[in-house]
Amino acid sequence: MVDTSDEWIRQRTGIETRHIAAENETATDLAINAARAALADSGLVPADIDLIVVATCTAEDRSPNIAGRVSVALGATRPVIMDLNVACSGFAHALAVADQAIRAESATTAIVIGTEKLSAFTDWTDRSTCVLTADAAGAFVITRSEHPGISAVTWGSEPDLASAVRIEAPSSTFVQEGKSVFKWAISQAAGYARQTVQRSGYELADIRALVSHQANLRIIEPLARQLGMENAIVATDVTASGNTSAASIPLAFSKMWHNGELPPDSPVLLFGFGGGFAYAGQVVRTPRRKV
Ligand SMILES: CC(C)(COP(=O)(O)OP(=O)(O)OC[C@H]1O[C@@H](n2cnc3c(N)ncnc32)[C@H](O)[C@@H]1OP(=O)(O)O)[C@@H](O)C(=O)NCCC(=O)NCCS
Repeated sequence: MVDTSDEWIRQRTGIETRHIAAENETATDLAINAARAALADSGLVPADIDLIVVATCTAEDRSPNIAGRVSVALGATRPVIMDLNVACSGFAHALAVADQAIRAESATTAIVIGTEKLSAFTDWTDRSTCVLTADAAGAFVITRSEHPGISAVTWGSEPDLASAVRIEAPSSTFVQEGKSVFKWAISQAAGYARQTVQRSGYELADIRALVSHQANLRIIEPLARQLGMENAIVATDVTASGNTSAASIPLAFSKMWHNGELPPDSPVLLFGFGGGFAYAGQVVRTPRRKV
């Protein structure tokens, strides 16, 4: 479709494969599948869920939101339902909102989902973006605990980059100033990620894995180097899945967990950044037992 090559894509982005949803498959369908899988892993049932938060910037409809449709599909019992749009850092934001709701005793058990059908918002004639975007969903189930496993969030925005990543009317296709985002990511992201670890009470050496937004392998590798977390493995699912925006963190985390790469009850640094321009991160403990 465009003048590019497998070699260019691998060298500049690290992407080797990615997945595109079927034409009639929506971000909601992906979200429902991820929610079902996470719920099965958790050992809980739909009636236990009293909050559903969905991070997405590619919902097919403006209303009802995806969270409401997930609730109906699961047969949950009147949970709080909300969608939240912070593009690629959406999942880390959604997780923070759900965590705070549980801490404030406004909810007990939440499903937090990142879902995107970016292929529906991709300009397949623009070689600078159409080689990057892909579709996916991932989900966490989190519940109240005497020993909360999610740290205080570090989050904020960067007004100078407000227009750097956009899906705007009337074309509603993904456009970005790749170079500006790249520069921010390799010069600023590590500072906020380090701050996230400091605020969590862990030392960098305690962290067992880095799961950052999967935008480009050439961003992930320098970020990991700059953080210097000697005991952490680094999520590089961008090579298998491309850039899936809000889905990239839960998707990468889930694959690592199911592959046995993450030890139980261990701290993992999540860090998202992208459209807005916004960033958010927290340290989460992996589940106590293998599922
Ligand atoms: C998008 C990105 C991969 C581009 O890589 P880059 O090394 O910065 O490449 P550039 O944009 O400078 O382009 C370099 C050259 O490759 C060309 N090019 C761009 N896309 C190409 C493609 N798919 N195939 C072949 N050539 C391509 C450009 O036209 C340019 O050619 P020129 O030098 O003749 O003008 C990179 O900037 C990036 O990943 N940025 C961060 C994106 C991001 O994190 N987004 C987060 C939001 S979710």
